[in-house]
Amino acid sequence: MARVWHLTARPDGDLDPGIFTLEDVPDPPLGDDEVRIANSWLSVDPFMRGMLDDHGGYMPALPLGSPMQGGAVGTVIESRARDWPVGRKVLHNGGWRDVAVVAQAACEAIPDSAAPIQRYLGHLGMPGQTAYFGLLDAAAFRPDDLLFVSAAAGAVGSAVVQIARIKGATVIASAGGADKCAALRDWGASIAIDRNAPGTMREKLGAAVRGVGAEGISAFFDNVGGDHLDAAIQHARVGARFALCGMIGGYGRGDQLVLDQPMRLVARRLRIRGFAAPDYDDRWAEFHEDMLRWTLSGDLVSAETVHEGLAAVPAAFCALFTGGNLGKMLVRL
Ligand SMILES: NC(=O)c1ccc[n+]([C@@H]2O[C@H](COP(=O)([O-])OP(=O)(O)OC[C@H]3O[C@@H](n4cnc5c(N)ncnc54)[C@H](OP(=O)(O)O)[C@@H]3O)[C@@H](O)[C@H]2O)c1
Repeated sequence: MARVWHLTARPDGDLDPGIFTLEDVPDPPLGDDEVRIANSWLSVDPFMRGMLDDHGGYMPALPLGSPMQGGAVGTVIESRARDWPVGRKVLHNGGWRDVAVVAQAACEAIPDSAAPIQRYLGHLGMPGQTAYFGLLDAAAFRPDDLLFVSAAAGAVGSAVVQIARIKGATVIASAGGADKCAALRDWGASIAIDRNAPGTMREKLGAAVRGVGAEGISAFFDNVGGDHLDAAIQHARVGARFALCGMIGGYGRGDQLVLDQPMRLVARRLRIRGFAAPDYDDRWAEFHEDMLRWTLSGDLVSAETVHEGLAAVPAAFCALFTGGNLGKMLVRL
């Protein structure tokens, strides 16, 4: 039997781990070109929130009663796929369960290196790819940038801050709480903004920009939307480049940005670009080479918040939306 988390109720108000149910599912025999994988680490990610409502949106709606899915790393324990022998460490999308049966075409081999395998769910995986190309391509990064990064202490944001530092930019970064702000400064942010501290985000970003003696930000990497995007528009230089990565401040709430001075977009000649990690799948090797080198040299630090055991998956997922993670949120089996 495999043990698999299913979506059995829709969210109603604040996210509640009780909308998920752990069920025993018969382990099917393998078909041609399939492998059975014992998962060792599971990922929970904000995009999964988009599957839970009945109307879908950013992600297609998951029918009630369906098994949850998500990133996972594990070891092949049975194989009918020529290229995937027993013992191979793989990355795949059969998460939220202890054992997964996956087609070989849907698995990726984890390269042999000194990096821990769970890094392939974080800075060496999808969140790292998001950070790397979102900054360097979508935001058209320049080493002389004054960059603002929101939700900067999480999986994506922590990589953005450090890549920008490695490449010489000045970074203003926001997160929730004093401990997270201390981590942002350790990773190279010149100024850390506590989103939970008194004052509006407009006021706090304005003070930060003045604090580094600048007239405005030249680039923005946005994970939050809402008041963070509003503040960035207010404090942008002419020609500033915005990479819109996500809007977690509005997930499940619908309280998105109301532009009260839209002519600023025109007057400041802002360049605003949304993007998604898969846009860059064909450039994976380029991202992996840089991020692995920085990981192994210690230039890039990967914080992790680890919950233990399959039973902890829903709580770990829900805690993403109350700031319960520093770095990548993971579940270890
Ligand atoms: N475009 C893409 O392809 C792509 C790929 C991956 C992720 N994303 C997006 O990138 C963003 C970050 O994802 P991640 O995986 O790195 O997650 P994460 O930042 O590791 O975790 C979520 C963090 O968001 C912050 N947060 C939660 N609710 C918030 C709210 N109401 N207002 C402001 N901040 C809030 C919390 O940090 P604090 O406590 O520090 O505020 C929380 O720890 C998300 O918007 C996600 O959807 C996009």
